[in-house]
Amino acid sequence: MRDPGSDMGIAAFARRFQMTLHIISAEPSDAAVIALLGRITFAETFGHLFYSHRDDLRAYLDKTFDAGKIWCSLGKPENTYWLAYRNKLPVGYAKLKYPSAPPGKPGRDAAQLQKIYLLREFLGESIGHALLTQLLEAACRLAPLIWLDVLWQNERAIGFYTTFGFTAIGDDAYTIGAQRFRFRQMARSLP
Ligand SMILES: CC(C)(COP(=O)(O)OP(=O)(O)OC[C@H]1O[C@@H](n2cnc3c(N)ncnc32)[C@H](O)[C@@H]1OP(=O)(O)O)[C@@H](O)C(=O)NCCC(=O)NCCS
Repeated sequence: MRDPGSDMGIAAFARRFQMTLHIISAEPSDAAVIALLGRITFAETFGHLFYSHRDDLRAYLDKTFDAGKIWCSLGKPENTYWLAYRNKLPVGYAKLKYPSAPPGKPGRDAAQLQKIYLLREFLGESIGHALLTQLLEAACRLAPLIWLDVLWQNERAIGFYTTFGFTAIGDDAYTIGAQRFRFRQMARSLP
């Protein structure tokens, strides 16, 4: 496995929490790590919503975080993934897609923050800040706008995105198994 990269200017965060923190650009060889992080972090964040629908959750995790599927996704030119290593352990990941027009605005030159997830144990240590900062730096070089979907009930993430200048632009809904979930769309312009 590759060494988790060089210092990306995030030493201040690391000092604050007495840890080493490295953000690396992920490659197809990281597929298994991302697939496992994806499964665990989704279940930690949203598992309670599937209390009476455990099979739906398992089917969603199996399909979405299949290692082969993630491997293919990592190889697509429109996708960029990052991994966060805390004290050399992978604790979170993020995914940017470009181009990706916001729903209802075909042709709009925009990037999409598709995923940003940390293991529950490491929330609140500014690792999300470091991952999103890295992702926004890359997005600035690609597009004038970035957007995302966030579950309505996910107040922590909505607060986090608001801190970074995202504002609500609309609503959407997606079905997982037997349940329909409401999402808030948020966006911000990029310098
Ligand atoms: C979203 C997520 C990546 C944010 O990471 P985090 O570790 O919670 O947040 P950080 O500690 O990095 O905080 C970053 C900044 O956002 C702010 N912030 C975090 N949560 C906030 C909240 N609920 N309200 C307002 N601001 C918030 C912090 O004050 C911090 O500011 P600072 O860096 O200037 O001190 C993380 O909470 C997570 O993985 N959650 C579970 C998965 C998830 O919900 N993903 C999003 C799906 S859409």
